[in-house]
This record gives sequence, structure tokens and C-alpha cells, in this order.
Amino acid sequence: MTAGGPPPGLSGHVGQDGSMSIVKINVLTVPAEQREVLEKRFASRAGVVENSDGFEWFELLRPVDGTDDYLVYTRWRDEAAFQAWMEGPMKQAHQGGGDRPQPAATGSTVWTFEVLQQTGPKSEG
Ligand code: HEM
Repeated sequence: MTAGGPPPGLSGHVGQDGSMSIVKINVLTVPAEQREVLEKRFASRAGVVENSDGFEWFELLRPVDGTDDYLVYTRWRDEAAFQAWMEGPMKQAHQGGGDRPQPAATGSTVWTFEVLQQTGPKSEG
């Protein structure tokens, strides 16, 4: 789709066709003793999301300021692309590997944002 172009984060396409990317952040509250479990689950994550239409970016963010909140940052072409993932591949993406008698997170909240501006570092030379 953007073969040969810059990665999505640097493509500067926001607003060009009247639409803008959206960011969906899943906030996972993970008690200290469950951190390792959670990180291992993500380490063996399904890798499904990267094949979803309209998917642009994923980051797992570990808290370092003393909170228990991990952020699962995802960015999508639009709300419809995110909803399609939620209704389909998301289930497979959340099967992970191995037994899981208990979820590692004690809570989760989804935050939604529109990307209003974005930039990357200026390339040198
Ligand atoms: C009850 C709520 C949720 C919990 C506890 C949760 C937890 C997890 C865990 C532990 C994984 C690692 C894979 C696995 O073990 O299944 C994962 C994968 C993932 N989660 Fe969630 N999740 C939740 C809902 C969501 C939502 C609403 C989003 C949307 C922003 C999301 C985005 C992702 C993505 C993008 C991956 C990687 C999938 C892949 O590898 O293809 N999660 N989640």
C-alpha cells in the first residue's frame, strides 16, 4: 500500500483525504506480581494485528513511574478498521500461548484519540 514509502508514523498523511488516523489505547492494570506473566504473554503474542486492514502501529508500553498501568498503544486508519479488528481477528489475537487460568490484568479501559498532528525527527542532510 505504501510500499517504499516512509513508515506510517512518518508519512504525514493525516488529513490529506479529510480523514485522520485514530489511536486506541488499552490501559491494562497489572499488579506487580503479574507483570512477568503479562509480558510473557505479549512476548508470545499472536502477531495477528499486523495483518489487519487499516492497522498502522502497535506498542506495548511498560510503566516506569510507579503506576500499575501498561498501555497497549494501537493506531488505525479509522474507527471502522479498528471495529473490524475487534469483531474478527481480535479474538485470535487474544488467545496467546499456553494456559491462562487467570487474566494477568485486573482491569482494562480503552481510550480513543484522533491524531491531530504528528511528526518525526528531521532527517539529517
Ligand atoms: C479485557 C481487555 C483486554 C485484556 C486483558 C488484554 C490483554 C492482552 C494480552 C495479555 C495480550 C497478549 C496476547 C495474549 O496473551 O492474548 C494482548 C494482545 C493484544 N491486545 Fe489486548 N487485551 C484486552 C483488550 C484489548 C483491546 C480492547 C485492544 C485494542 C486496543 C487490545 C489490543 C491488543 C493488541 C493489538 C494485541 C497484540 C495482538 C497481536 O499480537 O496480534 N487489547 N492483549
